[in-house]
Amino acid sequence: MSSAGLKGIKTVRDFELEGKVVFLRLDLNVPMENGKITDENRITASLPTIKYCMEKGAKLVLASHLGRPKTKDDKEFSLEPVAKRLQEHLNVEVILVEEPDSDAPKALLQSLKKNEIILLENVRFEEGETKDSVEFAQKIANYTDIYINDAFGASHRAHATIHALPSLMKDKGIGFLIEKEITMLDSLLTNPKRPYLAVMGGAKVSDKIAVIERLMDIVDGFVIGGAMAYTFLKAQGTPVGKSLVEGDKLRYAKEMIERIEARNKTMLLPKDHVVAKSFNDVASARTTKDIVISEDEMGLDIGPQTLREYSAAIKEAGTIFWNGPMGVFETPAFSKGTFGVSQAIAESQATKIVGGGDSAAAAEASGFADKMTHISTGGGASLEYLQGDKLPGLEILRARVRA
Ligand code: 3PG
Repeated sequence: MSSAGLKGIKTVRDFELEGKVVFLRLDLNVPMENGKITDENRITASLPTIKYCMEKGAKLVLASHLGRPKTKDDKEFSLEPVAKRLQEHLNVEVILVEEPDSDAPKALLQSLKKNEIILLENVRFEEGETKDSVEFAQKIANYTDIYINDAFGASHRAHATIHALPSLMKDKGIGFLIEKEITMLDSLLTNPKRPYLAVMGGAKVSDKIAVIERLMDIVDGFVIGGAMAYTFLKAQGTPVGKSLVEGDKLRYAKEMIERIEARNKTMLLPKDHVVAKSFNDVASARTTKDIVISEDEMGLDIGPQTLREYSAAIKEAGTIFWNGPMGVFETPAFSKGTFGVSQAIAESQATKIVGGGDSAAAAEASGFADKMTHISTGGGASLEYLQGDKLPGLEILRARVRA
């Protein structure tokens, strides 16, 4: 199956950057606790493009969103801590500019020194950002020469600095991070090494329907864990007690199993579980002897027999796409399945690509993140791309300037 991929899209290498003002849209939406960054992967993943532009003599205007602020006064969403980290990584002065649509950036750019770069304050403080406002975008276009998108994690959003702005600019392209992300995701869609296994988990079947639908014709098999497994098990008539089940997806889940089997492909479901009386009742946690979950218990992780079976399938794979944890891995009593699967993936000889979001966090928490071929920086964006949706932030880069 082919995808448009990067066809018709320029990269930052295609432009003469010396003395030019480059607007670089990044996804610096990092998790924070009490003003402290708890995972800076998105910052480090953005550094190669920033460094390249600096080396080539560009004047840089960086921009990103952070969280989902309601108003400009939601100061907890300020990019200030990110500016600090960038400054430390790059050893340059990062000037945080509050009004991206004012004259301030233009004035600053006129006297910007070689060791200074501009970072616009959280673009979601501006009303026009999520409205994909052309008016807001035009104000930025007035002081920038070249538009580069390296915000893979936000490229599924038709927002002003992702979509309206490049629609106004003639010179536009992508940075190294998006180039790598799309190349990696395309390797999951075109000529993957076989057998190709999709390891899917997470809470809801409904979140993954579109991607399972598309991968059904591409992969050789699915390995299913997380709460979504209970919807499939219940659809097959297995008692799942109080486990999380999407009642309105049971018929669909049953048909999905049948369609996968009709294609002579495998779908592995848990054969035993780690259960508890409730989500918070860790003291009642135990491993079931078989597939059945009793009425007063709920499944919160895959059991050891299942982990062995899943690990054996993973060992044989040539390509693995992992999306979603096998259980509530944030709680140690329910983390063995997810961490075990992460270890099996890490130790396999396969090309192993991890979808962003929860799976990236799980790979990180398991301690095996550095053994993966690629961990996507985009949760929603990577799923939307794999399920065949067009990402507005990529498509607009193939387009001509808005008339
Ligand atoms: C993400 O964290 O998935 C991206 O930064 C996009 O953020 P959003 O879901 O708030 O648009």
